[in-house]
Amino acid sequence: MDKLVIEGGYPLTGRIRIGNAKNSVLPLMAASLLSDGEVRILDAPKLRDVGTMAELLGTLGSPVAEEDDALVIRHEDLDRVEAPYEVVRRMRASICVLGPLLARRGRARVSFPGGCAIGPRPIDLHLKGLRALGAAIDIQGGYIEAKAVRLRGAEMYLGGPFGSTVTGTANVLCAAVLAEGTTVIEGAACEPEVGDLARFLCAMGAEIDGIGTPRLVIRGVSRLEGATYRPISDRIEAGTFMVAAAVTGGDVTLENVRLDHLRAVVDKLEEIGVVVERTETGCRVTRRGDLRSSDITTLPYPGFPTDLQAQFTALLSLADGVSVVTEKVYPERYMHIAELARMRAHIRKVGPSGVVVGVDELSGAPVMASDLRASAALVLAGLVARGETHVRRVYHIDRGYERIEERLTALGARVVREEDDAP
Ligand code: EPZ
Repeated sequence: MDKLVIEGGYPLTGRIRIGNAKNSVLPLMAASLLSDGEVRILDAPKLRDVGTMAELLGTLGSPVAEEDDALVIRHEDLDRVEAPYEVVRRMRASICVLGPLLARRGRARVSFPGGCAIGPRPIDLHLKGLRALGAAIDIQGGYIEAKAVRLRGAEMYLGGPFGSTVTGTANVLCAAVLAEGTTVIEGAACEPEVGDLARFLCAMGAEIDGIGTPRLVIRGVSRLEGATYRPISDRIEAGTFMVAAAVTGGDVTLENVRLDHLRAVVDKLEEIGVVVERTETGCRVTRRGDLRSSDITTLPYPGFPTDLQAQFTALLSLADGVSVVTEKVYPERYMHIAELARMRAHIRKVGPSGVVVGVDELSGAPVMASDLRASAALVLAGLVARGETHVRRVYHIDRGYERIEERLTALGARVVREEDDAP
Protein backbone atom coordinates (compact mmCIF):
# COMPACT_ATOMS: atom_id res chain seq x y z
CA MET A 1 0.00 0.00 0.00
CA ASP A 2 1.29 3.50 -0.81
CA LYS A 3 1.31 6.67 1.23
CA LEU A 4 1.85 10.31 0.29
CA VAL A 5 4.56 12.21 2.14
CA ILE A 6 3.92 15.95 2.05
CA GLU A 7 6.18 18.72 3.24
CA GLY A 8 3.89 21.64 3.96
CA GLY A 9 4.34 25.34 3.45
CA TYR A 10 4.77 25.89 -0.30
CA PRO A 11 2.20 28.11 -2.04
CA LEU A 12 0.89 26.51 -5.25
CA THR A 13 1.43 28.48 -8.45
CA GLY A 14 1.00 27.76 -12.13
CA ARG A 15 -1.55 26.09 -14.41
CA ILE A 16 -3.37 22.80 -14.10
CA ARG A 17 -5.76 21.01 -16.43
CA ILE A 18 -8.79 19.53 -14.71
CA GLY A 19 -9.85 16.09 -15.94
CA ASN A 20 -13.28 14.97 -17.05
CA ALA A 21 -15.76 13.94 -14.40
CA LYS A 22 -15.40 10.55 -12.76
CA ASN A 23 -19.04 10.69 -11.70
CA SER A 24 -20.08 11.22 -15.32
CA VAL A 25 -17.78 8.65 -16.85
CA LEU A 26 -18.81 5.78 -14.55
CA PRO A 27 -22.58 6.00 -15.28
CA LEU A 28 -21.80 6.65 -18.97
CA MET A 29 -19.72 3.47 -19.19
CA ALA A 30 -22.55 1.55 -17.50
CA ALA A 31 -25.13 3.12 -19.84
CA SER A 32 -23.13 1.96 -22.86
CA LEU A 33 -24.60 -1.49 -22.07
CA LEU A 34 -27.87 -0.14 -23.54
CA SER A 35 -26.47 0.39 -27.02
CA ASP A 36 -26.38 -2.04 -29.91
CA GLY A 37 -23.32 -0.37 -31.42
CA GLU A 38 -19.85 0.71 -30.38
CA VAL A 39 -19.49 3.46 -27.76
CA ARG A 40 -16.48 5.77 -27.59
CA ILE A 41 -15.99 7.88 -24.47
CA LEU A 42 -13.40 10.58 -25.12
CA ASP A 43 -10.82 11.83 -22.62
CA ALA A 44 -11.91 9.71 -19.69
CA PRO A 45 -9.69 10.25 -16.66
CA LYS A 46 -7.21 7.47 -15.84
CA LEU A 47 -8.57 6.59 -12.44
CA ARG A 48 -8.78 3.47 -10.38
CA ASP A 49 -12.61 3.56 -10.43
CA VAL A 50 -12.67 3.84 -14.23
CA GLY A 51 -10.44 0.73 -14.34
CA THR A 52 -12.83 -1.06 -11.99
CA MET A 53 -15.83 -0.18 -14.18
CA ALA A 54 -13.91 -1.40 -17.25
CA GLU A 55 -13.22 -4.67 -15.44
CA LEU A 56 -16.91 -4.99 -14.58
CA LEU A 57 -18.04 -4.35 -18.17
CA GLY A 58 -15.52 -6.97 -19.33
CA THR A 59 -17.11 -9.48 -16.92
CA LEU A 60 -20.46 -8.55 -18.45
CA GLY A 61 -19.28 -9.45 -21.95
CA SER A 62 -18.71 -5.84 -23.06
CA PRO A 63 -14.92 -5.34 -23.01
CA VAL A 64 -13.46 -1.86 -22.77
CA ALA A 65 -10.39 -1.04 -24.87
CA GLU A 66 -8.23 2.08 -24.69
CA GLU A 67 -7.67 3.53 -28.15
CA ASP A 68 -5.78 6.84 -28.30
CA ASP A 69 -7.83 9.20 -26.16
CA ALA A 70 -10.98 7.06 -26.11
CA LEU A 71 -12.47 4.23 -24.10
CA VAL A 72 -14.06 1.96 -26.68
CA ILE A 73 -16.83 -0.36 -25.54
CA ARG A 74 -18.12 -3.19 -27.75
CA HIS A 75 -20.66 -5.83 -26.86
CA GLU A 76 -19.64 -9.48 -27.34
CA ASP A 77 -21.82 -11.55 -25.03
CA LEU A 78 -25.28 -10.31 -24.08
CA ASP A 79 -26.01 -13.34 -21.89
CA ARG A 80 -23.84 -12.17 -19.03
CA VAL A 81 -25.82 -10.25 -16.41
CA GLU A 82 -23.98 -10.64 -13.11
CA ALA A 83 -22.09 -7.86 -11.27
CA PRO A 84 -20.22 -9.88 -8.63
CA TYR A 85 -19.74 -8.99 -4.97
CA GLU A 86 -15.99 -8.82 -5.44
CA VAL A 87 -16.34 -5.81 -7.79
CA VAL A 88 -19.34 -4.04 -6.21
CA ARG A 89 -17.58 -4.22 -2.82
CA ARG A 90 -14.69 -2.19 -4.28
CA MET A 91 -16.82 0.38 -6.08
CA ARG A 92 -20.41 1.29 -5.25
CA ALA A 93 -20.92 2.97 -8.62
CA SER A 94 -21.09 -0.62 -9.99
CA ILE A 95 -24.80 -0.36 -9.10
CA CYS A 96 -25.15 1.79 -12.25
CA VAL A 97 -25.20 -1.36 -14.41
CA LEU A 98 -28.51 -2.49 -12.86
CA GLY A 99 -30.87 -0.32 -14.97
CA PRO A 100 -28.98 -0.80 -18.27
CA LEU A 101 -28.71 -4.60 -17.88
CA LEU A 102 -32.37 -4.93 -17.01
CA ALA A 103 -33.51 -2.76 -19.92
CA ARG A 104 -31.23 -4.22 -22.62
CA ARG A 105 -30.71 -7.83 -21.47
CA GLY A 106 -34.01 -8.34 -19.61
CA ARG A 107 -32.24 -9.56 -16.48
CA ALA A 108 -29.68 -8.39 -13.95
CA ARG A 109 -27.98 -9.95 -10.94
CA VAL A 110 -26.07 -7.28 -9.04
CA SER A 111 -24.44 -7.68 -5.64
CA PHE A 112 -26.31 -5.54 -3.08
CA PRO A 113 -23.98 -2.66 -2.12
CA GLY A 114 -23.45 -2.17 1.60
CA GLY A 115 -22.73 1.01 3.55
CA CYS A 116 -19.32 2.65 3.37
CA ALA A 117 -17.05 5.15 5.13
CA ILE A 118 -19.43 8.01 4.37
CA GLY A 119 -22.41 6.31 6.03
CA PRO A 120 -25.34 4.05 5.12
CA ARG A 121 -26.14 4.26 1.43
CA PRO A 122 -29.51 2.65 0.69
CA ILE A 123 -30.73 1.88 -2.85
CA ASP A 124 -34.46 1.72 -2.09
CA LEU A 125 -35.20 4.56 -4.54
CA HIS A 126 -33.37 2.78 -7.38
CA LEU A 127 -35.51 -0.31 -6.77
CA LYS A 128 -38.72 1.72 -6.35
CA GLY A 129 -38.20 3.36 -9.76
CA LEU A 130 -37.36 0.11 -11.54
CA ARG A 131 -40.37 -1.63 -9.97
CA ALA A 132 -42.57 1.26 -11.16
CA LEU A 133 -41.37 0.41 -14.69
CA GLY A 134 -42.63 -3.16 -14.18
CA ALA A 135 -39.44 -4.98 -13.14
CA ALA A 136 -39.74 -7.96 -10.81
CA ILE A 137 -37.06 -7.54 -8.16
CA ASP A 138 -35.98 -9.92 -5.44
CA ILE A 139 -33.05 -9.95 -3.00
CA GLN A 140 -31.39 -13.38 -2.77
CA GLY A 141 -28.06 -14.33 -1.22
CA GLY A 142 -26.88 -10.72 -1.08
CA TYR A 143 -27.79 -10.10 -4.72
CA ILE A 144 -30.46 -7.97 -6.36
CA GLU A 145 -32.16 -10.16 -8.93
CA ALA A 146 -34.19 -8.14 -11.41
CA LYS A 147 -36.20 -9.32 -14.40
CA ALA A 148 -38.51 -7.81 -17.00
CA VAL A 149 -39.62 -8.98 -20.41
CA ARG A 150 -40.21 -5.39 -21.57
CA LEU A 151 -40.30 -2.46 -19.19
CA ARG A 152 -43.31 -0.12 -19.39
CA GLY A 153 -43.23 3.65 -19.03
CA ALA A 154 -44.66 5.03 -15.75
CA GLU A 155 -44.95 8.19 -13.68
CA MET A 156 -43.00 8.24 -10.44
CA TYR A 157 -41.51 10.41 -7.70
CA LEU A 158 -37.88 9.61 -6.85
CA GLY A 159 -37.18 12.04 -3.98
CA GLY A 160 -36.04 10.55 -0.68
CA PRO A 161 -35.36 11.69 2.90
CA PHE A 162 -32.08 13.33 1.85
CA GLY A 163 -33.31 14.75 -1.44
CA SER A 164 -32.89 13.28 -4.89
CA THR A 165 -30.60 10.37 -5.75
CA VAL A 166 -27.89 10.75 -8.37
CA THR A 167 -27.15 7.14 -9.31
CA GLY A 168 -30.78 6.19 -8.59
CA THR A 169 -31.93 8.72 -11.20
CA ALA A 170 -29.25 7.36 -13.57
CA ASN A 171 -30.45 3.78 -13.16
CA VAL A 172 -34.12 4.57 -13.68
CA LEU A 173 -33.41 6.95 -16.58
CA CYS A 174 -31.35 4.27 -18.31
CA ALA A 175 -34.10 1.71 -17.85
CA ALA A 176 -36.81 4.10 -19.05
CA VAL A 177 -35.13 4.95 -22.37
CA LEU A 178 -35.82 1.42 -23.66
CA ALA A 179 -39.23 1.03 -21.94
CA GLU A 180 -42.45 0.93 -23.91
CA GLY A 181 -44.24 4.29 -23.65
CA THR A 182 -43.52 7.46 -21.70
CA THR A 183 -41.91 7.74 -18.27
CA VAL A 184 -42.06 10.82 -16.06
CA ILE A 185 -39.52 11.03 -13.23
CA GLU A 186 -40.39 13.73 -10.68
CA GLY A 187 -37.76 14.52 -8.06
CA ALA A 188 -34.95 13.57 -10.44
CA ALA A 189 -31.42 14.58 -9.41
CA CYS A 190 -30.26 17.77 -11.16
CA GLU A 191 -26.52 17.20 -10.76
CA PRO A 192 -24.62 18.12 -13.96
CA GLU A 193 -23.47 14.48 -14.24
CA VAL A 194 -27.12 13.35 -14.58
CA GLY A 195 -27.61 15.91 -17.36
CA ASP A 196 -24.45 14.62 -19.00
CA LEU A 197 -25.78 11.06 -18.89
CA ALA A 198 -29.08 12.20 -20.41
CA ARG A 199 -27.25 13.96 -23.26
CA PHE A 200 -25.16 10.84 -23.86
CA LEU A 201 -28.34 8.73 -24.01
CA CYS A 202 -29.82 11.22 -26.52
CA ALA A 203 -26.62 10.92 -28.60
CA MET A 204 -27.38 7.17 -28.77
CA GLY A 205 -30.97 7.89 -29.89
CA ALA A 206 -32.95 8.27 -26.65
CA GLU A 207 -35.73 10.86 -26.37
CA ILE A 208 -35.55 12.84 -23.12
CA ASP A 209 -37.05 16.22 -22.18
CA GLY A 210 -36.39 18.28 -19.06
CA ILE A 211 -32.66 17.56 -18.92
CA GLY A 212 -31.13 19.40 -15.95
CA THR A 213 -34.51 19.79 -14.22
CA PRO A 214 -36.19 17.68 -11.50
CA ARG A 215 -38.84 16.51 -14.03
CA LEU A 216 -37.53 14.19 -16.70
CA VAL A 217 -39.88 13.00 -19.44
CA ILE A 218 -38.61 10.01 -21.37
CA ARG A 219 -40.27 8.59 -24.49
CA GLY A 220 -39.11 5.00 -24.81
CA VAL A 221 -37.44 3.83 -28.03
CA SER A 222 -36.88 0.26 -29.19
CA ARG A 223 -33.09 0.41 -29.62
CA LEU A 224 -30.07 2.65 -29.12
CA GLU A 225 -27.15 3.06 -31.51
CA GLY A 226 -23.50 3.53 -30.56
CA ALA A 227 -22.12 7.05 -30.00
CA THR A 228 -18.95 9.05 -29.47
CA TYR A 229 -19.14 11.33 -26.46
CA ARG A 230 -16.92 13.67 -24.43
CA PRO A 231 -17.98 13.90 -20.77
CA ILE A 232 -18.09 17.16 -18.79
CA SER A 233 -15.19 18.35 -16.69
CA ASP A 234 -14.93 17.26 -13.06
CA ARG A 235 -16.39 19.98 -10.81
CA ILE A 236 -15.23 18.20 -7.66
CA GLU A 237 -11.64 17.89 -8.84
CA ALA A 238 -11.79 21.57 -9.84
CA GLY A 239 -13.16 22.53 -6.41
CA THR A 240 -10.42 20.53 -4.71
CA PHE A 241 -7.64 22.32 -6.65
CA MET A 242 -9.34 25.68 -5.97
CA VAL A 243 -9.09 24.90 -2.26
CA ALA A 244 -5.44 23.84 -2.74
CA ALA A 245 -4.67 27.26 -4.23
CA ALA A 246 -6.63 29.02 -1.49
CA VAL A 247 -5.29 27.14 1.51
CA THR A 248 -1.64 27.60 0.46
CA GLY A 249 -2.16 31.28 -0.45
CA GLY A 250 -1.13 30.48 -4.02
CA ASP A 251 -2.03 31.61 -7.53
CA VAL A 252 -3.34 28.82 -9.74
CA THR A 253 -5.04 28.90 -13.12
CA LEU A 254 -7.33 25.95 -13.71
CA GLU A 255 -8.13 24.88 -17.28
CA ASN A 256 -11.09 22.82 -18.48
CA VAL A 257 -13.41 24.04 -15.73
CA ARG A 258 -17.18 24.63 -15.99
CA LEU A 259 -17.66 27.52 -13.56
CA ASP A 260 -21.41 27.35 -14.23
CA HIS A 261 -21.35 23.98 -12.40
CA LEU A 262 -19.56 25.52 -9.41
CA ARG A 263 -21.69 28.55 -8.48
CA ALA A 264 -22.30 27.55 -4.84
CA VAL A 265 -18.61 26.69 -4.46
CA VAL A 266 -17.30 29.95 -5.93
CA ASP A 267 -19.81 31.87 -3.80
CA LYS A 268 -18.39 30.24 -0.64
CA LEU A 269 -14.78 30.74 -1.71
CA GLU A 270 -15.46 34.45 -2.19
CA GLU A 271 -17.07 34.66 1.25
CA ILE A 272 -13.97 33.01 2.72
CA GLY A 273 -11.67 35.59 1.08
CA VAL A 274 -10.60 33.76 -2.07
CA VAL A 275 -10.58 35.50 -5.47
CA VAL A 276 -11.90 33.46 -8.40
CA GLU A 277 -11.54 35.13 -11.80
CA ARG A 278 -13.06 33.62 -14.93
CA THR A 279 -10.60 32.83 -17.73
CA GLU A 280 -11.25 31.56 -21.25
CA THR A 281 -11.30 27.86 -20.31
CA GLY A 282 -11.66 28.01 -16.55
CA CYS A 283 -10.53 30.30 -13.76
CA ARG A 284 -7.65 31.78 -11.81
CA VAL A 285 -7.69 31.35 -8.02
CA THR A 286 -5.77 33.63 -5.65
CA ARG A 287 -6.22 34.78 -2.11
CA ARG A 288 -6.27 38.23 -0.55
CA GLY A 289 -5.38 38.34 3.14
CA ASP A 290 -6.53 35.93 5.82
CA LEU A 291 -9.18 33.28 5.38
CA ARG A 292 -12.55 34.24 6.88
CA SER A 293 -14.95 31.84 8.59
CA SER A 294 -18.15 30.84 6.83
CA ASP A 295 -21.08 28.46 7.43
CA ILE A 296 -21.66 25.76 4.85
CA THR A 297 -24.61 23.41 4.36
CA THR A 298 -24.29 20.63 1.80
CA LEU A 299 -27.34 20.07 -0.39
CA PRO A 300 -28.23 18.38 -3.68
CA TYR A 301 -27.24 20.43 -6.76
CA PRO A 302 -27.30 23.39 -7.25
CA GLY A 303 -26.51 23.57 -3.51
CA PHE A 304 -23.04 23.14 -2.07
CA PRO A 305 -21.77 19.61 -2.94
CA THR A 306 -21.20 17.02 -0.23
CA ASP A 307 -18.17 15.86 -2.24
CA LEU A 308 -16.38 19.12 -1.32
CA GLN A 309 -17.42 19.22 2.34
CA ALA A 310 -14.25 17.59 3.70
CA GLN A 311 -11.95 19.80 1.59
CA PHE A 312 -13.72 22.99 2.75
CA THR A 313 -13.61 21.77 6.35
CA ALA A 314 -9.80 21.57 6.00
CA LEU A 315 -9.76 25.10 4.54
CA LEU A 316 -12.00 26.55 7.26
CA SER A 317 -9.83 24.98 9.96
CA LEU A 318 -7.37 27.80 9.16
CA ALA A 319 -9.93 30.61 8.89
CA ASP A 320 -10.39 33.45 11.34
CA GLY A 321 -13.31 32.63 13.65
CA VAL A 322 -15.86 29.84 13.95
CA SER A 323 -17.49 28.06 11.00
CA VAL A 324 -20.39 25.59 11.10
CA VAL A 325 -20.35 22.89 8.41
CA THR A 326 -23.63 21.00 8.15
CA GLU A 327 -23.95 17.84 6.10
CA LYS A 328 -27.49 17.33 4.74
CA VAL A 329 -26.72 14.66 2.16
CA TYR A 330 -24.62 12.19 4.20
CA PRO A 331 -25.05 13.21 7.87
CA GLU A 332 -22.30 10.77 8.91
CA ARG A 333 -19.66 11.94 6.44
CA TYR A 334 -17.22 13.21 9.08
CA MET A 335 -14.44 10.62 9.30
CA HIS A 336 -11.89 13.30 8.33
CA ILE A 337 -12.55 15.35 11.48
CA ALA A 338 -10.64 13.01 13.79
CA GLU A 339 -7.71 12.84 11.37
CA LEU A 340 -7.62 16.63 10.92
CA ALA A 341 -7.59 16.91 14.73
CA ARG A 342 -4.33 14.91 14.66
CA MET A 343 -2.96 17.83 12.66
CA ARG A 344 -4.05 20.32 15.34
CA ALA A 345 -7.34 21.35 13.71
CA HIS A 346 -10.00 22.30 16.21
CA ILE A 347 -13.27 20.72 15.02
CA ARG A 348 -16.11 19.35 17.12
CA LYS A 349 -18.97 17.30 15.78
CA VAL A 350 -22.30 18.60 17.07
CA GLY A 351 -25.28 16.64 15.69
CA PRO A 352 -25.10 16.70 11.88
CA SER A 353 -22.62 19.59 11.94
CA GLY A 354 -18.92 20.12 12.37
CA VAL A 355 -18.08 23.22 14.41
CA VAL A 356 -14.71 24.44 13.16
CA VAL A 357 -12.75 26.85 15.32
CA GLY A 358 -10.01 28.32 13.15
CA VAL A 359 -6.41 27.82 14.27
CA ASP A 360 -3.30 29.74 13.16
CA GLU A 361 -1.37 26.74 11.99
CA LEU A 362 -1.75 23.02 11.31
CA SER A 363 0.95 20.59 12.28
CA GLY A 364 2.09 17.74 10.00
CA ALA A 365 1.23 14.25 11.28
CA PRO A 366 0.71 10.68 10.12
CA VAL A 367 -2.98 10.42 9.11
CA MET A 368 -5.19 7.79 7.58
CA ALA A 369 -7.40 8.29 4.53
CA SER A 370 -10.87 6.78 5.03
CA ASP A 371 -12.51 7.62 1.71
CA LEU A 372 -11.85 9.54 -1.46
CA ARG A 373 -12.82 13.08 -0.44
CA ALA A 374 -11.62 12.71 3.17
CA SER A 375 -8.20 11.80 1.81
CA ALA A 376 -8.25 14.87 -0.45
CA ALA A 377 -8.94 16.98 2.66
CA LEU A 378 -5.94 15.46 4.43
CA VAL A 379 -3.67 16.16 1.45
CA LEU A 380 -4.89 19.79 1.40
CA ALA A 381 -4.17 20.13 5.11
CA GLY A 382 -0.74 18.57 4.56
CA LEU A 383 0.10 21.13 1.86
CA VAL A 384 -0.07 23.94 4.40
CA ALA A 385 0.84 22.20 7.68
CA ARG A 386 4.16 22.85 9.38
CA GLY A 387 6.43 19.82 8.89
CA GLU A 388 5.69 16.47 7.26
CA THR A 389 2.33 14.82 6.79
CA HIS A 390 2.06 11.15 5.86
CA VAL A 391 -1.31 10.32 4.29
CA ARG A 392 -1.74 6.57 4.49
CA ARG A 393 -4.10 4.36 2.44
CA VAL A 394 -3.68 6.66 -0.52
CA TYR A 395 -5.44 4.19 -2.82
CA HIS A 396 -8.62 6.05 -1.84
CA ILE A 397 -7.36 9.20 -3.53
CA ASP A 398 -6.35 7.30 -6.68
CA ARG A 399 -10.01 6.40 -7.14
CA GLY A 400 -10.87 9.99 -8.01
CA TYR A 401 -7.75 12.11 -8.63
CA GLU A 402 -5.35 11.25 -11.45
CA ARG A 403 -1.59 11.31 -10.58
CA ILE A 404 -2.25 13.64 -7.66
CA GLU A 405 1.35 13.85 -6.47
CA GLU A 406 2.70 14.66 -9.95
CA ARG A 407 0.13 17.37 -10.56
CA LEU A 408 0.63 18.98 -7.16
CA THR A 409 4.41 18.82 -7.59
CA ALA A 410 4.09 20.60 -10.95
CA LEU A 411 2.40 23.44 -9.04
CA GLY A 412 5.29 23.69 -6.58
CA ALA A 413 4.12 21.39 -3.78
CA ARG A 414 6.49 18.92 -2.13
CA VAL A 415 4.68 15.59 -2.36
CA VAL A 416 6.14 12.14 -2.92
CA ARG A 417 4.53 8.73 -3.09
CA GLU A 418 6.23 6.05 -1.04
CA GLU A 419 5.55 2.48 -0.22
CA ASP A 420 3.97 2.32 3.22
CA ASP A 421 5.71 -0.38 5.21
CA ALA A 422 3.70 0.26 8.38
CA PRO A 423 1.40 -2.68 9.23
C1 EPZ B 1 -23.41 10.03 -5.99
O1 EPZ B 1 -23.57 8.91 -5.11
C2 EPZ B 1 -21.91 10.20 -6.17
N1 EPZ B 1 -21.36 8.99 -6.77
C3 EPZ B 1 -21.27 10.51 -4.83
O2 EPZ B 1 -19.90 10.79 -5.07
C4 EPZ B 1 -21.93 11.74 -4.22
O3 EPZ B 1 -21.43 11.95 -2.92
C5 EPZ B 1 -23.44 11.57 -4.15
O4 EPZ B 1 -23.97 11.21 -5.46
C6 EPZ B 1 -24.19 12.80 -3.69
O5 EPZ B 1 -23.92 13.87 -4.56
C7 EPZ B 1 -21.44 8.84 -8.10
O6 EPZ B 1 -21.96 9.64 -8.84
C8 EPZ B 1 -20.80 7.61 -8.67
P1 EPZ B 1 -27.23 9.59 -3.85
P2 EPZ B 1 -25.01 8.24 -4.96
O7 EPZ B 1 -28.01 8.36 -4.21
O8 EPZ B 1 -25.75 8.33 -6.22
C9 EPZ B 1 -29.90 8.80 0.02
C10 EPZ B 1 -17.57 10.74 -4.57
O9 EPZ B 1 -16.86 11.08 -3.58
N2 EPZ B 1 -30.50 7.71 -0.76
O10 EPZ B 1 -27.46 10.81 -4.63
O11 EPZ B 1 -24.80 6.89 -4.37
C11 EPZ B 1 -28.43 8.58 0.33
O12 EPZ B 1 -28.26 7.75 1.48
C12 EPZ B 1 -18.90 10.06 -4.36
O13 EPZ B 1 -17.23 10.91 -5.75
C13 EPZ B 1 -31.61 7.06 -0.27
O14 EPZ B 1 -32.14 7.36 0.81
O15 EPZ B 1 -25.68 9.19 -3.90
C14 EPZ B 1 -27.95 9.99 0.52
O16 EPZ B 1 -28.31 10.44 1.79
C15 EPZ B 1 -19.14 9.46 -3.04
N3 EPZ B 1 -32.13 6.03 -1.01
C16 EPZ B 1 -28.75 10.78 -0.52
O17 EPZ B 1 -29.90 9.96 -0.78
C17 EPZ B 1 -31.61 5.66 -2.22
O18 EPZ B 1 -32.14 4.73 -2.86
C18 EPZ B 1 -28.04 11.06 -1.82
O19 EPZ B 1 -27.42 9.87 -2.31
C19 EPZ B 1 -30.49 6.35 -2.71
C20 EPZ B 1 -29.96 7.37 -1.96
